[in-house]
Amino acid sequence: MDYETPLFFHVMEYADAADRDVIDMVSGNPDWEPPEALREGLREYADLEPDRFQYAPSAGLRELRAEIAARRGVDAEQVVVTNGAGEANYLSMARALERNRGNEILLTDPVYPYYPGKTTMLGGAQRFVATDDEGQLDPTAVRAAASDETAAIVVNTPNNPTGAVYPAETMRELVAIAEEHDAILISDEVYDHYDLSGEFASALETDSAHRIVTNAFSKSMAITGFRVGYAIFPPELVSDARSRHMLVNVATTRPGQYAVLQALRETGPDYYERNRKRLRKRVETFTDALEAAGAEYTTPSGSFYVMARFEGYPGTLANVERLIDEAGVAGMPGEAFGDSRREWLRFALVTPRVEEAAERLAAYFD
Ligand SMILES: Cc1ncc(COP(=O)(O)O)c(C=O)c1O
Repeated sequence: MDYETPLFFHVMEYADAADRDVIDMVSGNPDWEPPEALREGLREYADLEPDRFQYAPSAGLRELRAEIAARRGVDAEQVVVTNGAGEANYLSMARALERNRGNEILLTDPVYPYYPGKTTMLGGAQRFVATDDEGQLDPTAVRAAASDETAAIVVNTPNNPTGAVYPAETMRELVAIAEEHDAILISDEVYDHYDLSGEFASALETDSAHRIVTNAFSKSMAITGFRVGYAIFPPELVSDARSRHMLVNVATTRPGQYAVLQALRETGPDYYERNRKRLRKRVETFTDALEAAGAEYTTPSGSFYVMARFEGYPGTLANVERLIDEAGVAGMPGEAFGDSRREWLRFALVTPRVEEAAERLAAYFD
Protein backbone atom coordinates (compact mmCIF):
# COMPACT_ATOMS: atom_id res chain seq x y z
CA MET A 1 0.00 0.00 0.00
CA ASP A 2 1.15 3.48 -0.79
CA TYR A 3 1.05 5.35 2.52
CA GLU A 4 1.48 9.07 2.55
CA THR A 5 4.09 9.84 5.16
CA PRO A 6 3.60 13.35 6.55
CA LEU A 7 6.49 15.70 5.89
CA PHE A 8 6.67 17.01 9.45
CA PHE A 9 9.31 14.57 10.57
CA HIS A 10 11.48 15.20 7.58
CA VAL A 11 11.46 18.97 8.12
CA MET A 12 12.10 18.64 11.86
CA GLU A 13 15.04 16.34 11.23
CA TYR A 14 16.44 18.68 8.63
CA ALA A 15 16.16 21.65 11.02
CA ASP A 16 17.79 19.67 13.84
CA ALA A 17 20.72 18.71 11.65
CA ALA A 18 21.32 22.27 10.41
CA ASP A 19 24.68 23.83 10.99
CA ARG A 20 23.31 26.99 12.54
CA ASP A 21 20.84 28.31 15.05
CA VAL A 22 17.34 27.62 13.74
CA ILE A 23 14.07 28.96 15.18
CA ASP A 24 11.71 25.98 15.14
CA MET A 25 8.23 26.88 13.89
CA VAL A 26 7.53 23.52 12.30
CA SER A 27 5.04 21.65 14.40
CA GLY A 28 2.38 22.51 16.98
CA ASN A 29 4.27 21.66 20.18
CA PRO A 30 3.36 24.31 22.75
CA ASP A 31 6.34 25.86 24.55
CA TRP A 32 4.28 26.98 27.57
CA GLU A 33 3.60 25.37 30.95
CA PRO A 34 1.00 22.66 31.50
CA PRO A 35 -1.48 23.28 34.32
CA GLU A 36 0.18 23.04 37.75
CA ALA A 37 -2.38 20.39 38.80
CA LEU A 38 -1.11 18.19 35.97
CA ARG A 39 2.42 18.23 37.39
CA GLU A 40 1.02 17.53 40.86
CA GLY A 41 -1.02 14.61 39.52
CA LEU A 42 2.09 13.11 37.94
CA ARG A 43 4.13 13.48 41.15
CA GLU A 44 1.36 11.84 43.13
CA TYR A 45 1.18 9.00 40.65
CA ALA A 46 4.73 7.87 41.29
CA ASP A 47 3.79 6.82 44.83
CA LEU A 48 0.55 4.98 44.10
CA GLU A 49 0.14 1.26 44.69
CA PRO A 50 1.39 -1.17 42.01
CA ASP A 51 -2.19 -1.98 40.96
CA ARG A 52 -2.40 1.51 39.46
CA PHE A 53 0.58 0.67 37.27
CA GLN A 54 -1.47 -1.99 35.44
CA TYR A 55 -3.88 -1.78 32.49
CA ALA A 56 -6.45 0.97 32.62
CA PRO A 57 -9.96 0.07 31.42
CA SER A 58 -9.67 -0.05 27.64
CA ALA A 59 -12.08 2.80 26.89
CA GLY A 60 -10.39 4.99 29.50
CA LEU A 61 -10.46 5.60 33.25
CA ARG A 62 -14.09 5.65 34.34
CA GLU A 63 -13.71 8.94 36.21
CA LEU A 64 -12.02 10.61 33.25
CA ARG A 65 -14.76 9.49 30.83
CA ALA A 66 -17.38 10.73 33.30
CA GLU A 67 -15.61 14.10 33.64
CA ILE A 68 -15.35 14.53 29.86
CA ALA A 69 -18.97 13.45 29.39
CA ALA A 70 -20.23 15.91 32.01
CA ARG A 71 -18.30 18.77 30.42
CA ARG A 72 -19.45 17.93 26.91
CA GLY A 73 -23.07 17.11 27.79
CA VAL A 74 -22.98 13.52 26.54
CA ASP A 75 -23.28 10.08 28.08
CA ALA A 76 -20.01 8.60 29.40
CA GLU A 77 -20.72 5.48 27.32
CA GLN A 78 -20.19 7.58 24.18
CA VAL A 79 -16.65 8.57 25.16
CA VAL A 80 -13.54 6.60 24.17
CA VAL A 81 -10.26 7.89 25.60
CA THR A 82 -7.58 7.62 22.92
CA ASN A 83 -3.90 8.16 22.21
CA GLY A 84 -4.47 11.80 21.38
CA ALA A 85 -6.69 13.30 18.71
CA GLY A 86 -4.59 11.34 16.22
CA GLU A 87 -6.06 8.02 17.31
CA ALA A 88 -9.50 9.57 17.82
CA ASN A 89 -9.48 10.64 14.16
CA TYR A 90 -8.26 7.22 13.05
CA LEU A 91 -11.01 5.40 15.00
CA SER A 92 -13.65 7.77 13.65
CA MET A 93 -12.59 7.47 10.02
CA ALA A 94 -12.30 3.68 10.30
CA ARG A 95 -15.75 3.54 11.89
CA ALA A 96 -17.27 5.65 9.10
CA LEU A 97 -15.70 3.49 6.38
CA GLU A 98 -16.66 0.15 7.91
CA ARG A 99 -20.35 1.12 7.84
CA ASN A 100 -20.18 0.41 4.09
CA ARG A 101 -22.24 3.43 3.13
CA GLY A 102 -19.65 4.64 0.64
CA ASN A 103 -15.89 4.65 0.41
CA GLU A 104 -15.11 8.32 -0.03
CA ILE A 105 -13.82 10.71 2.62
CA LEU A 106 -14.51 14.38 1.94
CA LEU A 107 -11.60 16.54 3.04
CA THR A 108 -10.87 20.24 2.78
CA ASP A 109 -8.12 21.87 0.74
CA PRO A 110 -6.03 23.08 2.53
CA VAL A 111 -6.00 20.02 4.75
CA TYR A 112 -4.22 18.77 7.87
CA PRO A 113 -1.99 16.19 6.13
CA TYR A 114 -2.70 13.30 8.48
CA TYR A 115 -6.32 13.09 7.20
CA PRO A 116 -5.46 12.14 3.62
CA GLY A 117 -2.74 9.86 5.01
CA LYS A 118 -5.25 8.03 7.23
CA THR A 119 -7.83 7.89 4.42
CA THR A 120 -5.38 6.04 2.17
CA MET A 121 -4.17 3.79 4.97
CA LEU A 122 -7.77 2.78 5.70
CA GLY A 123 -8.52 2.03 2.05
CA GLY A 124 -10.79 5.03 1.53
CA ALA A 125 -10.79 7.42 -1.42
CA GLN A 126 -9.92 11.10 -0.93
CA ARG A 127 -12.09 13.86 -2.31
CA PHE A 128 -11.25 17.50 -1.67
CA VAL A 129 -13.46 20.55 -1.27
CA ALA A 130 -11.68 23.88 -1.56
CA THR A 131 -12.08 26.46 1.20
CA ASP A 132 -12.07 30.17 0.41
CA ASP A 133 -8.99 32.37 0.87
CA GLU A 134 -9.79 32.84 4.56
CA GLY A 135 -10.07 29.08 5.04
CA GLN A 136 -13.87 29.18 5.42
CA LEU A 137 -15.77 26.17 4.13
CA ASP A 138 -18.90 26.85 2.10
CA PRO A 139 -21.51 24.19 2.96
CA THR A 140 -22.92 24.56 -0.57
CA ALA A 141 -19.61 23.34 -1.99
CA VAL A 142 -19.59 20.42 0.45
CA ARG A 143 -23.16 19.57 -0.52
CA ALA A 144 -22.19 19.60 -4.20
CA ALA A 145 -19.30 17.20 -3.56
CA ALA A 146 -21.27 14.85 -1.28
CA SER A 147 -22.96 11.76 -2.69
CA ASP A 148 -24.00 8.26 -1.72
CA GLU A 149 -20.30 7.42 -2.01
CA THR A 150 -19.52 9.72 0.92
CA ALA A 151 -18.58 7.79 4.04
CA ALA A 152 -17.40 10.79 6.04
CA ILE A 153 -16.74 14.50 5.95
CA VAL A 154 -13.67 15.39 8.03
CA VAL A 155 -13.26 18.96 9.21
CA ASN A 156 -11.09 20.76 11.73
CA THR A 157 -12.09 23.92 13.62
CA PRO A 158 -10.23 26.04 14.74
CA ASN A 159 -8.25 25.05 11.68
CA ASN A 160 -4.72 23.89 11.08
CA PRO A 161 -3.25 25.39 8.88
CA THR A 162 -5.62 28.27 7.96
CA GLY A 163 -6.60 29.50 11.44
CA ALA A 164 -10.26 29.62 10.34
CA VAL A 165 -13.01 29.08 12.92
CA TYR A 166 -16.24 27.82 11.36
CA PRO A 167 -19.45 29.57 12.44
CA ALA A 168 -22.29 27.62 14.09
CA GLU A 169 -24.30 27.73 10.88
CA THR A 170 -21.53 25.91 8.96
CA MET A 171 -21.35 23.22 11.63
CA ARG A 172 -25.13 22.72 11.55
CA GLU A 173 -25.07 22.46 7.77
CA LEU A 174 -22.20 19.97 7.77
CA VAL A 175 -24.11 17.71 10.16
CA ALA A 176 -27.20 18.05 7.93
CA ILE A 177 -25.20 17.07 4.82
CA ALA A 178 -23.83 14.00 6.62
CA GLU A 179 -27.41 13.05 7.54
CA GLU A 180 -28.69 13.56 3.99
CA HIS A 181 -26.14 11.05 2.64
CA ASP A 182 -26.10 8.60 5.54
CA ALA A 183 -22.50 9.66 6.15
CA ILE A 184 -20.62 10.78 9.28
CA LEU A 185 -19.37 14.27 10.03
CA ILE A 186 -16.06 13.99 11.89
CA SER A 187 -15.20 17.26 13.61
CA ASP A 188 -11.64 17.52 14.97
CA GLU A 189 -11.76 20.25 17.62
CA VAL A 190 -8.29 19.83 19.12
CA TYR A 191 -7.70 23.63 19.09
CA ASP A 192 -11.02 24.53 20.76
CA HIS A 193 -9.25 26.24 23.68
CA TYR A 194 -7.35 28.43 21.21
CA ASP A 195 -10.38 30.11 19.68
CA LEU A 196 -9.26 33.74 19.47
CA SER A 197 -12.49 34.93 17.87
CA GLY A 198 -15.20 33.87 20.31
CA GLU A 199 -17.00 32.34 17.32
CA PHE A 200 -16.08 28.68 17.85
CA ALA A 201 -19.03 26.28 17.61
CA SER A 202 -18.62 22.59 18.40
CA ALA A 203 -20.37 20.00 16.24
CA LEU A 204 -21.70 18.66 19.54
CA GLU A 205 -24.16 21.56 19.57
CA THR A 206 -26.08 19.77 16.81
CA ASP A 207 -27.41 16.52 18.16
CA SER A 208 -27.19 13.77 15.56
CA ALA A 209 -26.45 10.09 15.07
CA HIS A 210 -24.24 11.20 12.16
CA ARG A 211 -21.47 13.13 13.85
CA ILE A 212 -18.36 12.25 15.79
CA VAL A 213 -16.33 14.85 17.68
CA THR A 214 -12.63 14.29 18.32
CA ASN A 215 -10.44 16.22 20.73
CA ALA A 216 -7.41 15.91 23.00
CA PHE A 217 -5.60 17.55 25.88
CA SER A 218 -2.42 17.70 23.79
CA LYS A 219 -2.83 21.35 22.88
CA SER A 220 -5.22 22.65 25.55
CA MET A 221 -2.90 21.50 28.38
CA ALA A 222 0.35 21.81 26.39
CA ILE A 223 1.09 18.07 26.64
CA THR A 224 1.48 16.69 23.12
CA GLY A 225 3.85 14.07 24.54
CA PHE A 226 1.26 12.60 26.91
CA ARG A 227 -1.06 11.12 24.29
CA VAL A 228 -4.45 11.61 25.93
CA GLY A 229 -7.41 12.48 23.73
CA TYR A 230 -10.93 11.31 23.12
CA ALA A 231 -13.69 10.73 20.61
CA ILE A 232 -17.41 11.16 21.26
CA PHE A 233 -19.46 8.73 19.18
CA PRO A 234 -23.20 8.43 18.63
CA PRO A 235 -24.42 5.57 20.88
CA GLU A 236 -24.94 3.22 17.92
CA LEU A 237 -21.36 3.63 16.65
CA VAL A 238 -19.37 3.44 19.85
CA SER A 239 -19.17 -0.29 20.42
CA ASP A 240 -17.14 -1.22 17.30
CA ALA A 241 -14.89 1.79 17.84
CA ARG A 242 -14.13 0.56 21.35
CA SER A 243 -13.25 -2.85 19.96
CA ARG A 244 -10.86 -1.37 17.42
CA HIS A 245 -9.25 0.78 20.09
CA MET A 246 -8.82 -2.31 22.29
CA LEU A 247 -7.39 -4.45 19.50
CA VAL A 248 -4.91 -1.79 18.39
CA ASN A 249 -3.87 -0.31 21.75
CA VAL A 250 -5.23 -2.48 24.59
CA ALA A 251 -5.61 0.79 26.53
CA THR A 252 -4.24 4.32 26.78
CA THR A 253 -1.56 5.60 29.20
CA ARG A 254 -2.84 5.36 32.76
CA PRO A 255 -0.58 7.96 34.44
CA GLY A 256 -1.38 10.40 31.65
CA GLN A 257 -5.11 9.92 32.13
CA TYR A 258 -4.77 10.30 35.90
CA ALA A 259 -2.83 13.55 35.61
CA VAL A 260 -5.23 14.93 32.99
CA LEU A 261 -8.21 14.13 35.22
CA GLN A 262 -6.57 15.96 38.11
CA ALA A 263 -5.84 18.93 35.86
CA LEU A 264 -9.38 19.01 34.45
CA ARG A 265 -10.84 19.11 37.95
CA GLU A 266 -8.50 21.73 39.35
CA THR A 267 -7.65 24.11 36.52
CA GLY A 268 -9.69 27.30 36.24
CA PRO A 269 -10.47 29.29 33.08
CA ASP A 270 -7.60 31.71 33.77
CA TYR A 271 -5.04 29.07 32.67
CA TYR A 272 -6.60 28.82 29.23
CA GLU A 273 -7.15 32.57 28.98
CA ARG A 274 -3.47 33.19 29.73
CA ASN A 275 -2.48 30.89 26.88
CA ARG A 276 -4.84 32.62 24.45
CA LYS A 277 -3.49 35.99 25.49
CA ARG A 278 0.09 34.89 24.81
CA LEU A 279 -0.93 33.52 21.43
CA ARG A 280 -2.80 36.71 20.48
CA LYS A 281 0.30 38.73 21.27
CA ARG A 282 2.49 36.44 19.15
CA VAL A 283 0.08 36.63 16.23
CA GLU A 284 0.23 40.41 16.42
CA THR A 285 4.03 40.52 16.65
CA PHE A 286 4.53 38.06 13.81
CA THR A 287 1.96 39.51 11.43
CA ASP A 288 3.16 43.09 12.08
CA ALA A 289 6.65 42.02 11.03
CA LEU A 290 5.31 40.16 7.97
CA GLU A 291 3.37 43.28 7.02
CA ALA A 292 6.53 45.36 7.32
CA ALA A 293 8.34 42.78 5.18
CA GLY A 294 5.73 43.20 2.45
CA ALA A 295 4.56 39.58 2.67
CA GLU A 296 1.04 38.31 2.27
CA TYR A 297 -0.16 36.52 5.41
CA THR A 298 -3.15 35.08 7.24
CA THR A 299 -4.40 36.35 10.62
CA PRO A 300 -5.70 33.29 12.46
CA SER A 301 -9.03 33.37 14.29
CA GLY A 302 -7.82 30.30 16.19
CA SER A 303 -5.14 27.55 16.38
CA PHE A 304 -1.36 28.18 16.40
CA TYR A 305 -0.53 28.93 12.77
CA VAL A 306 0.19 31.81 10.44
CA MET A 307 0.59 31.24 6.72
CA ALA A 308 2.81 33.60 4.78
CA ARG A 309 3.58 34.11 1.13
CA PHE A 310 6.75 35.72 -0.07
CA GLU A 311 7.01 36.95 -3.65
CA GLY A 312 8.92 34.49 -5.86
CA TYR A 313 9.34 31.99 -3.03
CA PRO A 314 6.78 29.14 -3.38
CA GLY A 315 6.06 26.82 -0.43
CA THR A 316 8.07 23.84 -1.62
CA LEU A 317 10.12 21.51 0.53
CA ALA A 318 13.29 22.74 -1.20
CA ASN A 319 12.44 26.34 -0.28
CA VAL A 320 11.72 25.37 3.33
CA GLU A 321 15.15 23.74 3.53
CA ARG A 322 16.75 26.83 2.00
CA LEU A 323 15.00 29.02 4.56
CA ILE A 324 16.39 26.85 7.36
CA ASP A 325 19.93 27.07 5.98
CA GLU A 326 19.93 30.70 4.88
CA ALA A 327 17.52 32.48 7.25
CA GLY A 328 17.55 30.21 10.32
CA VAL A 329 13.77 29.85 10.45
CA ALA A 330 12.03 26.49 10.05
CA GLY A 331 8.42 26.37 8.82
CA MET A 332 6.31 23.91 6.87
CA PRO A 333 5.90 23.89 3.09
CA GLY A 334 2.41 24.99 2.02
CA GLU A 335 2.33 22.18 -0.52
CA ALA A 336 2.10 19.71 2.41
CA PHE A 337 -1.43 21.02 3.05
CA GLY A 338 -2.83 20.58 -0.43
CA ASP A 339 -2.74 22.20 -3.84
CA SER A 340 -4.31 25.50 -2.87
CA ARG A 341 -1.48 26.72 -0.64
CA ARG A 342 1.50 25.75 -2.82
CA GLU A 343 2.73 29.32 -2.81
CA TRP A 344 2.60 29.58 0.99
CA LEU A 345 4.66 28.66 4.04
CA ARG A 346 3.17 27.80 7.43
CA PHE A 347 4.71 28.96 10.71
CA ALA A 348 3.69 27.61 14.15
CA LEU A 349 3.74 30.31 16.83
CA VAL A 350 4.95 28.00 19.58
CA THR A 351 8.26 29.62 20.35
CA PRO A 352 9.09 32.70 22.45
CA ARG A 353 11.32 33.75 19.53
CA VAL A 354 8.46 34.83 17.27
CA GLU A 355 9.72 38.38 16.98
CA GLU A 356 13.25 37.29 16.16
CA ALA A 357 11.92 34.85 13.57
CA ALA A 358 9.90 37.58 11.91
CA GLU A 359 12.98 39.85 11.86
CA ARG A 360 15.05 37.10 10.26
CA LEU A 361 12.37 36.58 7.61
CA ALA A 362 12.09 40.31 6.96
CA ALA A 363 15.86 40.61 6.58
CA TYR A 364 16.07 37.55 4.32
CA PHE A 365 13.34 38.69 1.95
CA ASP A 366 14.43 42.33 1.96
C1 LIG B 1 -5.80 19.31 13.37
C2 LIG B 1 -5.03 18.39 14.24
N1 LIG B 1 -5.59 17.23 14.64
C3 LIG B 1 -4.91 16.36 15.42
C4 LIG B 1 -3.62 16.63 15.83
C5 LIG B 1 -2.90 15.61 16.66
O1 LIG B 1 -3.32 15.71 17.97
P1 LIG B 1 -2.74 14.70 19.07
O2 LIG B 1 -1.36 15.12 19.39
O3 LIG B 1 -3.69 14.88 20.22
O4 LIG B 1 -2.83 13.34 18.49
C6 LIG B 1 -3.01 17.83 15.46
C7 LIG B 1 -1.61 18.13 15.88
O5 LIG B 1 -0.97 19.02 15.41
C8 LIG B 1 -3.73 18.73 14.64
O6 LIG B 1 -3.19 19.88 14.23
